Amino acid sequence: MKVPYFDLKRQYKNISSEIETNVLKSLRSTQYSLGPEVVKFEKKYASFVTTNYCTGVNTGTSALHLALLACGIGVGDEVITVSMTFVASVMSISYTGAKPVFVDVFNDTQLLNFEKLEKKITSRTKAIVVVHLYGQCAEMHEIIKIARKYNLRVIEDSSQAHGASYKKIKAGSIGDIGTFSFYPGKNLGACGEGGAITTNNKKLDKKVKELRNWSQPKRYIHNDISFNYRMDTLQASALNIKLKYIKKWTAQRRKIANQYMRNIKNEKFKFTAAMSHNIHVYHIFSIFSKNPLKLKNYLNKNGVGTGFHYPVPVHLQKPYHHLGYKKGSLPVTEKISKNQLSIPIFPEMKNEEVNYVIDLLNKF
Ligand SMILES: Cc1ncc(COP(=O)(O)O)c(C=O)c1O
Repeated sequence: MKVPYFDLKRQYKNISSEIETNVLKSLRSTQYSLGPEVVKFEKKYASFVTTNYCTGVNTGTSALHLALLACGIGVGDEVITVSMTFVASVMSISYTGAKPVFVDVFNDTQLLNFEKLEKKITSRTKAIVVVHLYGQCAEMHEIIKIARKYNLRVIEDSSQAHGASYKKIKAGSIGDIGTFSFYPGKNLGACGEGGAITTNNKKLDKKVKELRNWSQPKRYIHNDISFNYRMDTLQASALNIKLKYIKKWTAQRRKIANQYMRNIKNEKFKFTAAMSHNIHVYHIFSIFSKNPLKLKNYLNKNGVGTGFHYPVPVHLQKPYHHLGYKKGSLPVTEKISKNQLSIPIFPEMKNEEVNYVIDLLNKF
């Protein structure tokens, strides 16, 4: 049997006629920049995240960049974040001219270790970029408590956590501002690139809306160094359809994750601990073992797709060598990246495929 790591074709096949009808409507309207489909998506997505405001942008990376700028981050500032993430969480900090400062993560959840946070704060620290890795929210109340003490902004990188929640509060609505990616492979993915910024703060919302579209109070009059980070109208048309399915897709992801956790009974493996006050949306299902490469080769040989998230932590990547982190600087992050392997999890996975993966893992 062949089990792909991820198969977008299955999702598309199920909803293609609805998507094509709506995208075609947008194409025929010829209103290709912002317009009613983007506004409609922003309203619906704000309601999904339970924030007052949402701004559609072109990528999750732009969403992070604008969220940081709206929070006033710039040259000379420090922003604390994790190294156990996709590089965009960190590169967006670098775009502003600020310095990323890395804090280690908890071994069992792979999420920001708030117990190590305070030691990283200096007089230059202005914000924390929290990453809800793999689909699970970090310990937000603990993080926010520390942030408030030092007057720091909290940005939630929720690109892997559409619809996830922490103590019944939705990812992207807990800190000062939240960011999302709609890269096609995400839990909610566009038919191309997309991103969004969510907040309850009117001032922050106003600022990101200005910055994404050249800060022009009047046409060709500009208030700030700003960007063309507008959400593509055709992507909004596709996302407006897909958003109707996100709850169902999330339930399917959670069901598969539960099947994995209940039925994989091999002492060689550990899973991400799902905290009981969280709704984990399983963008990625991670397995930790001593030799993930051997496990990968075994699964691939038996037709099962896999991924590494992430093989080299950001603090050890070339663009960040100048910050002076060395092997051993973030021991938990480094251990996780050495032991991690991602196995298939997507809503359209068939039961026999899930059972096949379980069976292979039990026999390993
Ligand atoms: C945690 C995280 N942050 C940011 C991004 C960047 O999003 P995008 O690829 O839409 O720019 C991604 C995904 O790619 C991500 O996984």
